[in-house]
Order: sequence, then structure tokens, then C-alpha cells
Amino acid sequence: MTTDTTTPAAGPTPGTPLLHASGVTMRFGGLTAVRSVDLTVNTGEIVGLIGPNGAGKTTFFNCLTGLYVPTEGTVSYQGKVLPPKPHLVTQAGIARTFQNIRLFANMTVLENVLVGRHTRTKEGLFSALLRGPGFKRAEAASRDRAMELLAFIGLEAKAEHLARNLPYGDQRKLEIARALASDPGLLLLDEPTAGMNPQETRTTEELVFAIRDMGIAVLVIEHDMRFIFNLCDRVSVLVQGEKLVEGTSEVVQRDDRVIAAYLGEPFEGAPGDEELAEVEAAETATGSTTSTIGTEGER
Ligand SMILES: Nc1ncnc2c1ncn2[C@@H]1O[C@H](COP(=O)(O)OP(=O)(O)OP(=O)(O)O)[C@@H](O)[C@H]1O
Ligand SMILES: [Mg+2]
Repeated sequence: MTTDTTTPAAGPTPGTPLLHASGVTMRFGGLTAVRSVDLTVNTGEIVGLIGPNGAGKTTFFNCLTGLYVPTEGTVSYQGKVLPPKPHLVTQAGIARTFQNIRLFANMTVLENVLVGRHTRTKEGLFSALLRGPGFKRAEAASRDRAMELLAFIGLEAKAEHLARNLPYGDQRKLEIARALASDPGLLLLDEPTAGMNPQETRTTEELVFAIRDMGIAVLVIEHDMRFIFNLCDRVSVLVQGEKLVEGTSEVVQRDDRVIAAYLGEPFEGAPGDEELAEVEAAETATGSTTSTIGTEGER
């Protein structure tokens, strides 16, 4: 699957503004990790955020999602300024995954998705404790939705497995399902293909297109440039906390400043099936895919 990269950089973007970050700055003591960054994501878009290690990409995500209170600047969603509180940001319609996987390792796959669902269930604590009819109905509806999402990411057969026993690539997909469970309008993905083999990366690419086709806009951080340039309508480049360049995949990958600061050399298109098979065979031989699971209970 490929995107149309023939649109000129200055051309109109689809949809209307969904997320708008304005002048976002984040300082840690003497270090300015993010400096006056503006970024807009429109409905129907897949936007990439790239840049070298330590450029401030994850810090920027943390500012967008209320995990950090930006030193300066504002973040708006659907025209309203977001309070910097993670649960309010989730309720407003933004969901995210983490660079370091954060699943509940000793819960099942299904239970992990149900955790992501709780911001959308209206039943209160008393109803839950009493397990009344309203609670049971809400619980059944949540389970149905969670199973739908597991089917969507291809993990329904593993619904009852413990999250810790999933292969690494499936853990990353499960994080996406958990994020989708809050019914977001915008999904933020922080390095969704890190540690994946080429086949898993390609499946994830298709998954992100499918998410966009469901009407959910996506902002994605990745170091895999094939993935980014195949997928994104627009790419923004952060270097040392500042936005260096923004434009279509085609424009960004040929920008001399981006090449000098990050890419190194022009990107030469998507891999063919043969190339993918070769890389995959080499990775299988060296066992290069890792398997880790993150801290429980953190956002
Ligand atoms: N909580 C924090 N306290 C102090 N410094 C921080 C904190 N979080 C991030 N930083 C610093 O901010 C800078 C940007 O880090 P960040 O993790 O945002 O980079 P990144 O672009 O996501 O890098 P990578 O591609 O390696 O994930 C780094 O110098 C990092 O050490
Ligand atoms: Mg990061």
C-alpha cells in the first residue's frame, strides 16, 4: 500500500484542524528539549514526526498528552485548549502508545484492551461494586468492543493469553488496540515498529492506513524512514528541539537540511518483496528481534 506523494509541499491538507500545538516549549532545568514548536494535524491525515535521538520527539508527545506541562505554549484539540492532564486529554479524544511498551504483563490480552476502554464507560464505582444490570450491560458492551479491536489487529485468537507471553511485535499491536479502545479521534504512536522485523513493520503500516480509514487521524514518531515516507501525508522534522522542516514525504526526504541533520542520504523508495524476504531471512538467522515488556500501571 502506498500514499500519493505527488502533492506539492505547499498544497492543501485534507480535512480540518484537529490538533494544534502552538509555541510548545519544554525546559528541564538548563536544557530546552522542545523549543517553540508549532504543529497541526488535520482530520484524515497521517503526520510523521522524525528527527535524531534526543531531538525532543517523545518530550513533545508528552506535552501533547498532558504527561508534561509545557513551559510555554498551548495544545488545542478541536479548537479547545487542552488541560495538561492525561485523563482529560484521553477523554477529549487523543490516545497514545509509548516508545517503551507499557502493558499490564500479568493481565490477559483482552483485559489490557478493557483497561483502555474504561474512559469511555459511564458506570460508576458503586455500580461496579454492586455489579447491577447497568454495570453488566456496560461490561458486555466493552467486551464486545474489545474483541472487535482484537480482531482488527489480528489478535483475537490470543485474547486469553497473558500479555507477557506475546511475541514483541504482538505486544506493540496490543498497545495500539488498547489505545483505540478509548475511541480516539487522534492516535499518537511513538516508534510503533521499533524492534519489529520487516514483515511485522509492513503489517503495522497497513494497520495505520486502516486506522486512518476508520476516521482516526495519526501522528507517528518513527526512525524507520521507509515506513514514514510510505505512510505519511506530511512529515515534520525536529532537530535539537526545534522544527527544522515540514512538508510532504517527497519534499522532506530530499531537503538538504534534513539530509545533513538526520537522513544522511536520499531515501530510495520502498523495499520490494524480494528485499523484504532477504532482510527477514537475515534477521531470523541472527535472532535480532527483541522481547521486552514495560512497567505496569504507567501511562
Ligand atoms: N524528564 C526529563 N528530565 C530531563 N531531561 C529530559 C526528560 N525527558 C527528556 N529529557 C531530555 O530531553 C531531550 C529530548 O529527549 P526525547 O526523549 O524527547 O528525545 P527523542 O527525540 O524522543 O529521542 P529518541 O529518538 O531517542 O527516542 C533529551 O536530551 C533527554 O535527555
Ligand atoms: Mg523518543
